[in-house]
Amino acid sequence: MSDGGAPARVAVLASGGGSNLQALLDHAEADPGAFRVALAASDRVGAGALARAAARGVPTAHLAEPADADRLLALLADAGADLVVLAGYLRLVPAAVTRAFAGRMLNVHPSLLPAFGGPGMYGRRVHAAVLAAGARVSGATVHFVDEEYDRGAVAAQWPVPVFADDTPESLAARVLHVEHALLPPTVAAVGAGRLTLGPDGRARGTFRAAPAVHGNDAAGRSAAFLIQDDSQLLRTQIADALVRGV
Ligand code: GRF
Repeated sequence: MSDGGAPARVAVLASGGGSNLQALLDHAEADPGAFRVALAASDRVGAGALARAAARGVPTAHLAEPADADRLLALLADAGADLVVLAGYLRLVPAAVTRAFAGRMLNVHPSLLPAFGGPGMYGRRVHAAVLAAGARVSGATVHFVDEEYDRGAVAAQWPVPVFADDTPESLAARVLHVEHALLPPTVAAVGAGRLTLGPDGRARGTFRAAPAVHGNDAAGRSAAFLIQDDSQLLRTQIADALVRGV
């Protein structure tokens, strides 16, 4: 992905608080060979994401006209971006930009796509829709971006159980926890060429997220778990979510 074995240069677009950007910054600091966050840009001047980037000395930019493809392409070129990551970015990226970065642009979404995605499905609405549908499993998805919201090929997913007493907020917190665990290693894998978008439009390659994601929610339940083929914990939690009933 990047030239000469140097870590991939990642531009992050974010509209909100930027906790996913923070996860990327922390990953890059802990493992400088994985990737480097070269730019953080936002359509909102006051986005917390920009403050988080500035605090780490990462250049920031305000996208005054998010639909202006030429300006965005110029900004990304100036940053030397190999990869673009949409981390809570609420604007549609112009098609000329998604085309230029085909296979090199990722988005993180707080559901198991293709369920509960698409225009207008962001933030609390996603989790409210999951609960309204009575879904027993939700999760986080990182996908390659194309010209439509939340449609591109799935790069990585991480399920979480939905509990009978969940609120949109409690479910959002559980999913956000795994977003932070899933996004950085996925970006690193794409940056290193270990995960690619194949000519058939599907992701190719494998990687494993770091096994450091256990945590308990307020009710003392495990809030996240690692996907592994041999993960008894995953099977147990999904099974538990499935049989609970509402
Ligand atoms: C995350 O749930 C992300 O999946 C969604 O918006 C939220 C952004 O959170 N697209 P943050 O700004 O990264 O804290």
